[in-house]
Order: sequence, then C-alpha cells, then structure tokens
Amino acid sequence: MFTNRVLSGMRPTGSLHLGHYHGVLKNWVMLQHEYECFFFVADWHALTTHYATPEIIGQNVWDMVIDWLAAGVDPAQSTLFIQSRVPEHAELHLLLSMITPLGWLERVPTYKDQQDRLTDKDLSTYGFLGYPLLQSADILIYRANRVPVGEDQVPHIEFTREIARRFNHVFGREPGFEGKAEAAVKKLGARRARLYRQMRTKYLEQGDGAALAAARALLEETQNLTLGDRERLFGYIEGGGKVILSEPLALLTEASKMPGLDGQKMSKSYNNTISLREDADSVARKIRTMPTDPARVKRSDPGDPEKCPVWQLHLVYSDDHKKQWVQQGCRSAGIGCLECKQPVIDAVLAEQKPMHERAEQYLEDPTLVRSIVADGCEKARKLAQETLRDVREVMGLSYS
Ligand code: TRP
Ligand code: SF4
Repeated sequence: MFTNRVLSGMRPTGSLHLGHYHGVLKNWVMLQHEYECFFFVADWHALTTHYATPEIIGQNVWDMVIDWLAAGVDPAQSTLFIQSRVPEHAELHLLLSMITPLGWLERVPTYKDQQDRLTDKDLSTYGFLGYPLLQSADILIYRANRVPVGEDQVPHIEFTREIARRFNHVFGREPGFEGKAEAAVKKLGARRARLYRQMRTKYLEQGDGAALAAARALLEETQNLTLGDRERLFGYIEGGGKVILSEPLALLTEASKMPGLDGQKMSKSYNNTISLREDADSVARKIRTMPTDPARVKRSDPGDPEKCPVWQLHLVYSDDHKKQWVQQGCRSAGIGCLECKQPVIDAVLAEQKPMHERAEQYLEDPTLVRSIVADGCEKARKLAQETLRDVREVMGLSYS
C-alpha cells in the first residue's frame, strides 16, 4: 500500500539528446538504486498531440528505450514497459472518468497553455482534455508514491492526488466500516493493536503527524493481513473509509540547465541539440562550429566568456582549474576558440562513450530490447490488474 515505488513516463515524440540525459535520465539512473522503479513509454500520451503523425511515435519507441538503457537505466533494477501494452491503464482511465468533474480538467493549466502554444495542432479533442486523467491512471494503477517530474508536470500530480482523494471518498465508504475496522485491529495481535490504537488516538486528537507515520509503518511491517483489512486499517487511522488509491507525491526534478549549441536551453525546437548517441565526428563538428563571443573576430582579439555559448558548456563539463584557464585565456586572447572547445569535445565524448558501449548490444540484437520490454510489460500488468480488481470491486463491477 505505502510502497517505495517510483513511476515516470516519457512521450516518444522525438529522439533524446543530452538535455534529456542531464535533466531526466541521470535522475532515473540514480533513483533506481533507492526505489522500486517503473519507467514507461507514454505512447498514448504522445497520440493526444501527435495523432496526425503516428509514424513519429512508432519510430521513436524503440530508440527511446535504447537511449534509456544506454544512459544506464538498468533493466535488472527497473521495470521498463510501454503504456499501450498495459491496457489496464485505459480501463482505469475510463473508470476514473466517471467521477472526474469536467471543470477540474478544464482548469489544469497545461490544457489551455498547450492549446495556445501548439497552434499547428487541433487540440480541442476529448483525448487531449483527458491527458491529465490518463496520467493519473498511469500513476494510481501502480500505487506509486513518488513521481519524478519537471516543474511543468506538478499540476498533473496535484490533479492526481485530488482524483485519488475523490475516489476514496466516493468508493471507500463501506457499510459497517467501523465494525470491520475494529475487527481488523484485533487481528493485529495484542501488542500491535494497543500500539495502533495509541497512535491513532494521538493522530485523531492531536493531529500528530509522527503518530500517523508510525501507525502506517506498523501496518507495513505487519504481514498476515488481508488486502481489505490492510486498506481499512490505513483508512481507519485517519478516521475515514478505506484507502483504495494512494496519493502520490511529485519528486521534483531540477530543471535541466543543459545549454544547447547556441547557448539557449538544449531543445529539439531550437535545433541546437547533440543527441544522446550522436557519433563522435558529428559531435566534434558541431562543437567546433559553435558560435563564440562575436567580439573575437581575430585570434588576437580578447573575448568575454559570458558572451559565449561554449562557456556555458564549460560550466557543465569543466572543473575549476579548467574554467580558470578559459576565463584567463579568453580575456587575454591567450587561447584560441578551437583550443578552448577541445576540452568540451573531449568531455562530451567521454560522457557518451559508456552510452555507446551499452547501446551496442541492443543495436546488434534488437530482440534483447523487445524481451526486456516484454518482461516489463508482464510485471507491470500483474500489479495493474491487482489494483483494477480492487477498483472494480468497489465500483460494483465484480459480479461474482
Ligand atoms: N506527461 C508526462 C510528460 O509529458 C509524461 C507522462 C505520462 C508521465 N504519464 C506519466 C510522467 C505518469 C509521470 C507519470 O512529461
Ligand atoms: Fe568562447 Fe572560449 Fe572563444 Fe572565449 S575562448 S570566446 S570562451 S570559445
């Protein structure tokens, strides 16, 4: 119930570049050591905006998974899957739609923003309006409690929390809840039952958050409870009904400061990217032809790193000693721009080397990636089906 589970998704709408690596993937790689991680290809989400060019999605799915693996996402530690291969997401999306007020969806800020920004696309569709709800289904179906996302996605996580709360409020109340919860307390055994009651009282009477956490921890380490009793006991601490869907928290990923080849943020739409597995010659060529401080017309003209996009890259890749060398050499015309660029080229290539190495086996044998994803889908489906079973039941759809 209160697991240590991380879930995040990425839309397969273009190839990944070093901005994605520094902004998102490095973080995923770190998280997989600490949490049980689920990462998925959000192909349905991509369709909400790219329905007119579905071939873009098809082209990017497998490349994207290879990019994740190249970046160090480890299939032995993390579960990788494709959203549309776990159709349970769609069923939960539909079921949640029954209790989702239209106004909540219309007020999610990305709805209007994206419609205004992506003027080349008609986004006045049912699917696009439902984007945040589909995302809620993605998260809630795994009872994930940590969702690493960038700032722009925080409203979607807040929305998800509201949906979970509303769902539990509408469907978590069962007849005779109090009596069933009390019976479940007894099943904890004398010592645990006493502790549970103490902490519950402390929380209900004094709002003691530590007592709430302690009571939850106690339930987590209690093994021999049925799922129903477990849910009741979690809900009973707070006085209410069952917690069927748990509220996730956003794990805010710091915005990537990765600069592109022109000094603006690295982004496909600025055409200033180095792709994750770009070949070495091309990387070197792109960096060598980067613009520099326009004041340095001749080699003997001094420059100002603050006016040069190459300096931005030194900030990412160089140590203090090297940065000192750039500052000093640029301002005194002691170094040339090509000389200044070389350590950046070396650093990017060094960063990419292990990525090329990891990708090699997957490029040689595409069945490897297919099978990693097939395993991931299977594992994800099992969990998704468990949640759906509970959801169907409380929504009166089990007909047993
Ligand atoms: N909307 C997310 C994005 O554009 C992608 C996404 C879909 C997602 N479902 C998710 C992210 C669930 C986290 C959790 O980046
Ligand atoms: Fe930019 Fe380096 Fe040339 Fe200075 S020396 S203008 S920092 S590339």
